[in-house]
Amino acid sequence: MNLNIAVLPGDGIGPEIVNQALKVVKAVCRKFGHELKYSEAFIGAVAIDATGNPYPEETHNLCISSDAVLFGAIGDPKYDNDPLAKIRPEQGLLTMRKRLGLYANIRPVTTFPSLIHKSPLRADLVEGADLICIRELTGGIYFGRPQGRSEDGTTAYDTCIYTVEEIERILRLSYNFALKRRKKLTVIDKANVLSTSRLWRQVSKRIEKEYPEVSTDYMFVDNASMQLIQNPKQFDVLVTENMFGDILTDEASVITGSLGMLPSASIGIHTSVFEPIHGSYPQAAGKNIANPLATILSSALMFEYAFNLSDEGNAIRKAVEDSIIEKVVTEDIAERGKAFKTSEVGDWIAKRL
Ligand code: IPM
Ligand code: MG
Repeated sequence: MNLNIAVLPGDGIGPEIVNQALKVVKAVCRKFGHELKYSEAFIGAVAIDATGNPYPEETHNLCISSDAVLFGAIGDPKYDNDPLAKIRPEQGLLTMRKRLGLYANIRPVTTFPSLIHKSPLRADLVEGADLICIRELTGGIYFGRPQGRSEDGTTAYDTCIYTVEEIERILRLSYNFALKRRKKLTVIDKANVLSTSRLWRQVSKRIEKEYPEVSTDYMFVDNASMQLIQNPKQFDVLVTENMFGDILTDEASVITGSLGMLPSASIGIHTSVFEPIHGSYPQAAGKNIANPLATILSSALMFEYAFNLSDEGNAIRKAVEDSIIEKVVTEDIAERGKAFKTSEVGDWIAKRL
């Protein structure tokens, strides 16, 4: 098969981790006989430096004309510490998601038995936890307008907006995931306070009837944030709005032992994007210490979702698991004094394949 992918390393540790994923993708293509073509483009702070635009038109054209996008990370402290900056790196990621119509972000949370001891949670709570969080990605408070400040600068506002159509499509997609799994869907909202959440619940109650094989339950987000830690094994598929999904998945990464482990797939109307859930980790940039597994596991999702090649995806996941068993891992999950470098982990997994 011909695989034509766009590679967007972005900021901070992005280039280092994407490099490792690329090594792995190349190794899989060699092993399974695929023809790989890829081109790189700017996004985020590096794109602002090069062009003034965090998501240049050239980058968009490359994404739109590719079969899949492999993405690293975005963000730079020089913007975080300047609340008045008009152009921000994160706008690049948000604009890409919006323009590609990536309304669903699939974030699987799976535990590796050999890593259970790295979770700060008790082993008996997390052992065997296996859930998927589906985060709505192009609506809600991230995109609602108006957003900004009053003229005198003393008041700021963000607007959370959802339409029936947006809620229906993410729910249907979530039910289809649940149907292929343990047939349980938890809809997470804040319907006791927010009007958008009440619309989510109203629409869910209607759609629920179309999927009688799936058992649906509802949970307020504050309760869900506790349940995720207290009893993660109760969950199969979770679906929630954009900002709740952002927060809950960082929390859920603790179940697996490290934020550096969680991959994701952003899917929707145009080309899908495969991105680790973590950020640009600027303190580690250029040091060759960041965990590349979330990005490597995102490339496994790419083979599965963008190309329908599940053997390739499973081969990557198996090689990642082997690297953990053999303790070829970065400092966030290594035993004291036995950490491998980012590039060593990438080389090992590519060679294993
Ligand atoms: C994520 C990240 C992004 C988000 C940031 C970098 C804009 O935290 O993908 O979870 O909030 O969506
Ligand atoms: Mg996040």
